[in-house]
Order: sequence, then structure tokens, then C-alpha cells
Amino acid sequence: MQLVAFYRDRFEEHLLSGIKPREPRSLYDPVFYILKLGGKRLRPALTLFSSELFGGSYQNALGAALAIEYFHNFSLIHDDIMDEAPLRRGKPTVHKRWDLNTGILSGDVMLIEAYRFLEEYPPEIFKRLTTVFSKTAVEVCEGQQYDMDFETRDDVTVPEYLRMIEYKTAVLVGASVRMGAITAGASEEDQQNIYDFGLNLGIAFQLQDDYLDAFGDPKSFGKQVGGDIIENKKTYLYLKALEMGDEALDRELKDLFSIQPRQADKKIRRVKEIYSQTGATEDTKKAIASFTDRAFSCLEKIDLPVEKKEILMEFGKDLMGRKV
Ligand code: IPE
Ligand code: IPE
Ligand code: MG
Ligand code: MG
Ligand code: MG
Repeated sequence: MQLVAFYRDRFEEHLLSGIKPREPRSLYDPVFYILKLGGKRLRPALTLFSSELFGGSYQNALGAALAIEYFHNFSLIHDDIMDEAPLRRGKPTVHKRWDLNTGILSGDVMLIEAYRFLEEYPPEIFKRLTTVFSKTAVEVCEGQQYDMDFETRDDVTVPEYLRMIEYKTAVLVGASVRMGAITAGASEEDQQNIYDFGLNLGIAFQLQDDYLDAFGDPKSFGKQVGGDIIENKKTYLYLKALEMGDEALDRELKDLFSIQPRQADKKIRRVKEIYSQTGATEDTKKAIASFTDRAFSCLEKIDLPVEKKEILMEFGKDLMGRKV
């Protein structure tokens, strides 16, 4: 973790050094606002770490890391509009602090800027990076659409849910490490294996995000706790509760997820009770551990010193226990 934190700090310095007021302020202020709100910088730290893992230098991976973090923050601005979320990283979301149109266009410009960070690479590397980046971006859109579609469906299955989170979240974590590996000139096989590591870690990460969305501490979580329940998100918790609950609980949960109640607090409290009572909460924790283990087993296929793998495993374990 120590070592990954080192790359996160190098990234942070680089990101902040590139932020200067720019006209029109109404377009760029929200961009810098969200970037300066912080966040864990998990993806860019992984990009830098991955580049050095395969014999590159982290300095040469900074452009790819910026592309990833700009893309991530663009997706958060638009995601918060779609999820009607009031809070991000403990502060008002862009569309709440400004307005909807600002959220749309400031998000768009971040997506375009993300690509421009890749222009600094030589043509062959640029091509490899943009191929991965564009494929990932399309998948994120597909995942986001499934997520929205599921809000109004009552027959979502666990495999459908897993595909949805793979697309909306995990592919970007996979791309983060893969793009780091590309800047280092890693082989196709190494790229694929490190991608698979990131993908499985990303699935565990989104499962943990769903868990925290219900059970996180409002003081530290930084997002509205219970937001997924208000929005009728068909999370792993929800699907497992349906699978494991008796008929009466199933009916109650489905009823609760078919309404937009005036008193959100009551709905949140009752849904969380059902998640815990049915064992869905425990099951989600198990699934998080299982996808994290799957990520670790992908590392076995990569020929790297054991100390380096251990750093990634420690990082994965820390993510499992994260509170934000
Ligand atoms: C939030 O990602 C969106 C998800 C995919 C769950 P992070 O939890 O990495 O957000 P920040 O960047 O650390 O705020
Ligand atoms: C986020 O999923 C996925 C993307 C932003 C693409 P969530 O909607 O669960 O993320 P949070 O909880 O708002 O951070
Ligand atoms: Mg959201
Ligand atoms: Mg969302
Ligand atoms: Mg979430």
C-alpha cells in the first residue's frame, strides 16, 4: 500500500500542477472543482504502478493516468445527474452546485480532454492506448445503460447484475492497469493478465461500493447513504435478499422497490433490515472476498517478483476493508 500511495501522490502533484483557471470559467470551474474534491485516485495510481511493474517509468505513464482520471471524473459528473445524487466526496455534486447543463458540458469537455492526454505518446503506443480506452469507454456507457434499465425491471438476475458492474466499473480498473502496461511496452499476454487482475478487482470494488452505499457511515462515506435504495438499484444485496428471503419478505422488498416514497428514511431503514435478516449482507461480503481472490489468482500467471505481487495483493485487501 505504501508503494501504491507513493504513485498516488506523484499523480496528485502532476494533476494539480496542470490546473489553472481557464475561460470560459463557467465551463472549466466545475471541471477543476470535481478534480480538486480529491477521491482515492485508485485508478491512476494503478496505472503508474503497473507501468513500473513491467519495466517502464511512472513519469512516462502520467499521460495515460491523467486520461483515466479525467474519464473517471467525467463519468462521475454524468452518473450523478443520472442517479440524482446530491453529494460527491462530501460536497455538492456538480449539477447541484451549478445546474444540469453545466454538468453535461463540463463532463463532455473532460471526456475530450482525456483523449488529448494520450496525444503525447508516439503513434504506435498512442494507437494501442486509444484502442483500449475507446473500447472501455463504450463498455462503461453500456454498463451505465443496463444500470438505468434495471431500475425499472423486477426480473434482473445475478449474472445480469455482474455483467452490468463489469461494464460500468470493472473494465475501467482493468484498462487502468493495462494502459500502464502498454506505456511500458509489456507483451500482449502480460497486458491481458494484468487486465484480468484489474477486472476482477473492479468487480469486487463495485460490490463493496454497493455495500457501502447501504451500510457506510454517512459521516465518512462522502455520498448519500441509501442512494441506491432510493433509486431502486438492483444491487447484489437486493438480488441476494430476494433469493434468500421467504415469500412474504420478497413481496415486501419488491413493493418497497416499486415506489418512490415520501419518507425515504423509512424505506432505507426497512430495506437494510431485510438485507441483513436474509443473509444478503453476509453473502455480499463473501462475494467481495471471492472476486478479490480471483483477481489475485490472475497475478499467478504473470512472471514477476513475488514482492511486487504482494504489493498489489495488499492493495486489494485494503480495498476490501475500505470505508470510502
Ligand atoms: C466511484 O469510484 C464510482 C464507482 C465506480 C463506484 P471511486 O470510489 O473510485 O471514486 P473516487 O474517485 O475515489 O471518489
Ligand atoms: C458508478 O456507479 C459507475 C460509473 C460512474 C460509470 P455508481 O452509481 O454506483 O457510483 P457512485 O456510487 O455514484 O459513486
Ligand atoms: Mg451513482
Ligand atoms: Mg450510477
Ligand atoms: Mg454506488
